[in-house]
Formats: sequence, structure tokens, C-alpha cells
Amino acid sequence: MEAFSLSSSISIASRTVAKGSCFKNVKLFPKSKRSTVYCQSGNHAIKSTGISSVLTETSPLISQDHGPALMESGSLVLSPNGKDYVEMHDEGIGIAKFLRGKAFLITGATGFLGKVLIEKILRTAPDVRKIFVLIKAENKEAALERLENEIINIELFKRLKQIHGKSYRAFLLSKLIPMVGNICEANLGLDEDGADFITKDVDVIINSAANTTFDERYDAALDINTGGPMRLMNFSKQCPKLKLFLQVSTAYVNGQRQGRIMEKPFCSGESIAGEFVLYGNNHNHQVSLPKLRIEDEIKIVSKSKKDLQDDNSVLQKMKELGMQRANKFGWQDTYVFTKAMGEMMIDNLRGNIPVVVIRPSVIESTYKEPFPGWMEGNRMMDPIILHYGKGQLTGFLVDPNGVLDVVPADMVVNATLAAMAKHGSAGKPDYSVYQVASSVVNPLVFRELAKLLYEHFSASPFIDPTGNPVRVPKMKLFSSMEDFSSHLWRHAVNRTGLGALSNLDGKLSQKLEIICRKSVEQAKYLASIYESYTFYRGRFDNSNTKRLMGFMSKEERQQFGFDVENVDWKDYITNVHIPGLRRHVMKGRGLNG
Ligand SMILES: NC(=O)c1ccc[n+]([C@@H]2O[C@H](COP(=O)([O-])OP(=O)(O)OC[C@H]3O[C@@H](n4cnc5c(N)ncnc54)[C@H](OP(=O)(O)O)[C@@H]3O)[C@@H](O)[C@H]2O)c1
Repeated sequence: MEAFSLSSSISIASRTVAKGSCFKNVKLFPKSKRSTVYCQSGNHAIKSTGISSVLTETSPLISQDHGPALMESGSLVLSPNGKDYVEMHDEGIGIAKFLRGKAFLITGATGFLGKVLIEKILRTAPDVRKIFVLIKAENKEAALERLENEIINIELFKRLKQIHGKSYRAFLLSKLIPMVGNICEANLGLDEDGADFITKDVDVIINSAANTTFDERYDAALDINTGGPMRLMNFSKQCPKLKLFLQVSTAYVNGQRQGRIMEKPFCSGESIAGEFVLYGNNHNHQVSLPKLRIEDEIKIVSKSKKDLQDDNSVLQKMKELGMQRANKFGWQDTYVFTKAMGEMMIDNLRGNIPVVVIRPSVIESTYKEPFPGWMEGNRMMDPIILHYGKGQLTGFLVDPNGVLDVVPADMVVNATLAAMAKHGSAGKPDYSVYQVASSVVNPLVFRELAKLLYEHFSASPFIDPTGNPVRVPKMKLFSSMEDFSSHLWRHAVNRTGLGALSNLDGKLSQKLEIICRKSVEQAKYLASIYESYTFYRGRFDNSNTKRLMGFMSKEERQQFGFDVENVDWKDYITNVHIPGLRRHVMKGRGLNG
């Protein structure tokens, strides 16, 4: 059954929504399973690690609740850090056993995380039956071409290539089945035969497809991040063998929550702004509770698109609309707001289908597997690292005591596989949330990160086009946009020599001033988009994820480990991540020799 398509048939959705009939048909909210609004309840302060500025404060939204109990009987042993007891199960979860003979449907397989996931499955479970890979493409040939160019032939798969030698390509093509599709289209954009083929066979559906641009236009983000999970969940209902639906979400769906944030699902109608009214310090009882209704969001998008159809600034206005709606309900941007609504959709539609939601924080390069430092794209903190290393940015707008919550991609994949095996084999219609994050158990503080970057680029500088090393100063961290902006301007004037030239050559100085202004504006824009992350006041609890590790056998921990708690950030940033960036993102440019 077709759900709504915001991009292709939003007017239809809106018309029927308005009449109130369409949503009944597509079963947007078939039944309310919980009347309780889950929130970060309680008035408890948590113990400070002494590192993060936020953790030292008492927040009304801090909770000591440890989430749904996952404990089963097992023996308690000291964790590798010697601080906590964790459960050890000799027999383990049975991850490899679960993967064996299973058929998967994976969306977002041409994305950064999707590739790491596919590589790991094929390397550790060569006896997996097949993986249907949903790929946006014109036709089957184009989908196959994308599969070859973007997955089979990339460096990430070099270990698998070594393992299979000459039969590598044949092996991969026997397991990976490219399917032309699009999660924004009716029936996932699959043709009838393709849909039939998958529905009959698939055991696990993994949705990793998303639009991850923080300030994406609202219609596009809502269509992919909220409508996508909805269409996939409706598709899941046609799959008789399905054992699990796994949604890759983000820890930042927790929006502007503060303090320690537990691994709790969202209920429909719930909003972060609503929690602030209910549990915050606002004692004005006249304040009304903001009620988030996804149907209303669809209507608003639809109406705005119609109103703006002849407007040249439609792109900008749709971007602003997304940010406005996100902020109104307590989320920092369109991306995380629409991802949160995606989670709500899944919960509302799941019926008896077991669901796992994986919420990673910021995913960065691989820690160990298939080799350290694999990375794709210039993401999150990386533009800042690279601009700094190239001497183009000497400071940033960031809370020095704040925390960058990072997790290596291979750990996210391992946690995903462990959770999948655990809940996929349980056969219970549970809804389980796992935050794969480091800010509570092993916080990487911005001040420390800035120091690591300085040390790294001082010891191994980039080489400029004239063959000279780029010397970087210590990175300055600013807590106000005003100070950051003045710093940028001073730096730009010095770099271009504008100050010295201004009295000599009017035309040249005018040109340089335009260049300076442009670069300052770009850096300020980057900082403003990142501000809600560089001053983020939430810390992601990962109790469920830690417990999941407790269910694993010793061998599984070695093969599928995700012990974020014991990552040595100094080693990871300087010896793994930045070399990875230099190799895979800079493609060797700016290296010695
Ligand atoms: N990267 C992070 O730091 C991070 C952190 C937390 C959570 N996450 C979550 O992790 C997941 C994967 O992220 P990522 O970094 O791998 O993203 P990515 O590199 O941007 O890849 C996105 C993937 O989604 C696909 N996609 C987008 N729209 C689609 C559509 N309409 N139909 C089918 N496929 C579509 C893309 O296909 P094309 O190649 O055709 O565009 C691509 O394969 C996302 O759900 C994201 O929200 C990411």
C-alpha cells in the first residue's frame, strides 16, 4: 500500500490529510501502544566526571533511569576499564550464526556507513544468503554500475579482495543484488517483480538511507527522513519472513535535551519543547504544551510548497521553514527533527514487527576494521580539522569544556550487528533503542581535541603548494560569535595582506576585501550551523549498548567489539583519524614529498 510521497505527490497527501481520510488509509498512527510520554524524568544530578562542563550541572532532564532492562542471567566480570561489572555469556549472542543464510534489504548502502556495514557482513559471514541493495538509479544497468563503482571496487573492500582473490567479484555479485529503488517513492520505487522478489525472501530490513544535511529544505528532509521509514515500515508488513526492522537513527534525535539522556523511544505527539514545559523550570502554568503532529507538518510543507511555487527563493524559504519548525518543537535543526519524526513513524506503524533503533552520535573513520582510518566525505568536524591544518582557520566557535561525541564507523557497525542478532533471533515484537556514543563513558573534550590537532599538525604539517610546511598556531576557541567574527576578520586581513595594501592600490584592496568578507561569512555560516553541536548540553547514556556487549562471548567481543569507553582519543585522532582524512579525503594532497 502506498504511503505519502512528499516530493512526488505532496498535494495529494495534503488534500487527503485535510479531509482526514488519507491517514486512516495509510495507517500513519494505527494504534497507540503507550499512553505514557517517555521523557528524561527525575530531578537527579549525576556525578561529574570532572571533564565536561555540562555534566557538572544539575539538570531537571537528567535521569538515572537505566532504560529497559536487558539483563538475563550470566556471570558478572570486571569490564576492561576495571571500573564496572559487565555480564559475560560464554555462548554469546550468536551473531555469525544469525547472519548465516539470511537475506537482507539495505537502504543507504552507497553511503558512508552502509558500505562499512556491507563489508563487515560479507567478511564475517560469507555464508549470508543475499543482500538486496536499494539504489537510486535510472535502470538496472545503472544500479549495477553504481554497485560496482561505489561498493565493489573501492579500497574499503581490499581485505575481502585478498580473501577471495580471483573469485572476489563473482563472490560479491553472488551476494549483492542491486535493486533500483527510492525510499521516497511508492512501494520504495521497486518494480512489481522486484518488490515481490524481496518481500518473499527478506529476513532483515536495515534503513540507513537519510538526508544528513542539518539545514536541508524541509520538504526534502521530511520526505526522506520521516516518509522513508514510514514507507519501509509499510513495506515490511508485506514480508512474511521478516525477523527485524532496523533503523539507523542518530543520537541527536534527542534535540535540545540536556544532561544525561537515556535510550528511550519517542511517542507520537511528544516533543522536546513539550518536555521543557512539563519538566523544566518553567512554573508558568499558562504555557501551553506544544503538540507535535506529523500530519500537520506534512500539511504545512504541502501548503508552503504551493504558496512558494513561483517564488525564486523557494529553496531558502523551505530551509528556513524546516529550521523554524524544528526549533519550535525543541530540536536544533531540520535533520534531527525529521529523523526523530522518522522514529515516531516506525513506532506507530510497527505492529508486531521487532524493531531496533541504532542511534550513533558523530560517526568518524574506522578504528580497526577492515583497516584503521577509512573514511568517506568531508563530514562534521573534518572541514574544521582540514581548514585548520591548511592554516585557513585558526580558531572556532566552540565551548572549550564541551564534548564532541564521536564514534568510529566500525564500532557503529558492530553494535548494529550485535543488536540485530540479539533481537532478530528473539522473535519478540520489542522496540529497542541503542545509543552508540561516547560522551558519557569517554568524553572527548573540545579543549583537548584542539590540543591534539595542534600537536598533530605541528609534528606533521601539511605542505603548501610552494613546498613549504604550513605552520599552525594553537587553535583559539571562542564562546561568542562576535569574538569569533573579529578573529576571523583579523586573520583574513593578515593572510591576504589587505591591511598593508589598502593605502597603495584601491582596486586590489577592494578585491581583497571582497575575498576576506566572503571567507569570513563562510566560516561564520559553518560555525552557526555547528553551534548547536559545539555547545551541545546533552550527554548520551549508552547503558543498553553496554549491556548488549555483556551478552557477547569473548570471541564475539574480539570480532564485533564496540567498546567506545576504551578508545584512546589521542591515538585515534592523531594516528588513525587525521591520517585517514589525509589519505581518503585529501587523497594524499598536502603530504610531505
Ligand atoms: N554520518 C554520521 O556522522 C551519522 C551520525 C549519526 C547517524 N547517522 C545516520 O546514519 C545513516 C547513514 O549515514 P551516512 O553518513 O552513511 O549517510 P550518507 O553517506 O549521506 O549516505 C546516505 C545514503 O542514503 C541514500 N539515500 C538518500 N536518499 C535516498 C532515497 N530517497 N532513496 C534511497 N536511498 C537514499 C544515499 O543514496 P545516494 O548515494 O543515491 O545519494 C546514500 O546511500 C543515516 O541514517 C544517518 O542519519 C549518520
